[in-house]
Amino acid sequence: MRLSLSRGDFPRDFQLGASTAAYQIEGTAAGGTGPSHWDSWAATPGNVVRGEDGAVACDHYHRYAADLDLVRDGNFDTYRFSTSFARVMPDGRTPNAEGLDFYDRLADAIAERGLKASLTLYHWDLPSALADQGGWANRDVAARFADYSRVVLERIGDRMDSVATINEPWCVAWLSHFLGLQAPGLRDIRAASRAMHHVLLAHAKSLEVIREVTPGAKAGIVLNFAHPHAASDSEEDKRAARTFDGIHNRWFVEALTKGAYPADIAGALAPHMPEGWQDDMAAISAPIDWLGVNYYTRTTLRHLEDSLWPHFEDVPGPLPKTDMGWEIYPDGLRALLVRLARDYTGATPIFVTENGMAGDDHLIDGVIGDPVRVGYFDDHLKAVHAAIAEGAPVGGYFAWSLMDNYEWAFGYDKRFGIVYVDYETQARIPKASYHALREAFARS
Ligand code: NOJ
Repeated sequence: MRLSLSRGDFPRDFQLGASTAAYQIEGTAAGGTGPSHWDSWAATPGNVVRGEDGAVACDHYHRYAADLDLVRDGNFDTYRFSTSFARVMPDGRTPNAEGLDFYDRLADAIAERGLKASLTLYHWDLPSALADQGGWANRDVAARFADYSRVVLERIGDRMDSVATINEPWCVAWLSHFLGLQAPGLRDIRAASRAMHHVLLAHAKSLEVIREVTPGAKAGIVLNFAHPHAASDSEEDKRAARTFDGIHNRWFVEALTKGAYPADIAGALAPHMPEGWQDDMAAISAPIDWLGVNYYTRTTLRHLEDSLWPHFEDVPGPLPKTDMGWEIYPDGLRALLVRLARDYTGATPIFVTENGMAGDDHLIDGVIGDPVRVGYFDDHLKAVHAAIAEGAPVGGYFAWSLMDNYEWAFGYDKRFGIVYVDYETQARIPKASYHALREAFARS
């Protein structure tokens, strides 16, 4: 199966990338990693499918060289990965030489293969020692994260093309502290409101460190956007969609680009916000060099007659769905990219840092055909192409994920990879979608 577009259809420096994250692939059992709040969350029955955790994952810690060969051989330009806070600082404060040595080897291996390195400093593995002190609800986390950023960048920053501070702050804050669906699993508006601010403060403090230690690296942040869709034309459902957009999208992008939280959401969170938050907004809105966009689906919202804010629920939409139950809606990506450039980021480059889908993949006669995923990439690449034609400065498109991995609360059940992982043997088998991207992005 072939894709409709190829490298030549995109701007000259357009980057095709493959993305991963430390906890999801490395295996925490190796290399002196400390406990993180994901380990304790996963160990608590009921939180994660079969109680699975990241102890072994894809054993990337030992197999990184072969994994990077796959990135190079797939004609990717860029490898996006994260460093693990709990590996680099097992107790949240003291550097672990073994962990840093691993990332040093990894950075060299990326460079040796002629790939650009796109580093994400935080992809969710908060050291337990910091979680025990309140984690993201405690302002001190921002200072700890800045220290960690410095330690990582002093060691590998020289080889990084781009550096993102935080991956998906909405998940770090709201999903984890209000909806209770990821570590630390709280359902607490006060902790959530604090985390909503502290995660951006941590970004700001880390950004200052990036500017100081690696002035050559392009600095950014990766936000997860969902395309809100009102379940009906009623004013109430439209308001539900707008509130969802406020918590999910506008909170972060307006703080970063305008130095202010959106009034409709800030009003509701105000009683729970940490004292003096206003004083941090100038630092939070310091210019970034690029914005990362993770996009997967749209969300349909219905007004919920409930005494508790935010008065909405999401309901299943009619479109075909992935294995996660997420609707496939490529036009949401086009609309989002155009909206971001028009309303918020202007000429600042946008990178689609994650896009992809979980599929019901099976190895049959040594081959994995994943036609739905090929179609998903085809349609979303067309959406990116259309957004560029409409003026959005999109610098690259990164597939989530290089390989099947630990899908958080869903354990190893959901397969997002373009490379299949046989967890019994740790064999890697490129899927048809990997081959389709490789062919489309061959260099002439
Ligand atoms: C976004 C997250 O950054 C990543 O860790 C996760 O696996 C994908 N979404 C798919 O859910």
